[in-house]
Amino acid sequence: MATSHIAGRSQLNSTKNESQAERGGSEYARPFVGDDVMTTTETIKVTWITKDGANVSAHVPLGHSLMEAAIANDISGIIGDCGGALACATCHVHVEYSPVDLSEKKNIEIEMLEFADAPPSGSSRLSCQIKAARELDGLVLRVPAQ
Ligand code: FES
Repeated sequence: MATSHIAGRSQLNSTKNESQAERGGSEYARPFVGDDVMTTTETIKVTWITKDGANVSAHVPLGHSLMEAAIANDISGIIGDCGGALACATCHVHVEYSPVDLSEKKNIEIEMLEFADAPPSGSSRLSCQIKAARELDGLVLRVPAQ
């Protein structure tokens, strides 16, 4: 099982914006994702089952969307065209295992899932709507085969 870390992309983003000294912290203490500044280094383990059946695990900082984590870890089939704006369904996943019940889907998420390339099921979610939280440590997501 491969393991990687989302902070790699965050480091690239932060070097474009300002130096480490200007931010007053280390790269890992304050990773950037887009315009968001995260102030925690705590992570959870998330595993994706890819289209070809491989398991890929990553340590995802709390608060990061699992769509962005998938892209940062080169999970094939997760595109995130709309950047998490609930307007594309290219971040569709099936929740294979969750330690706790995920939050209820909003109506707009249910509607957008109808536009996903692969048929949605009861376990379908748009991964841009799932944020890494302590309770989700060990989450397993399956990328639809289509
Ligand atoms: Fe577009 Fe999730 S990234 S709906």
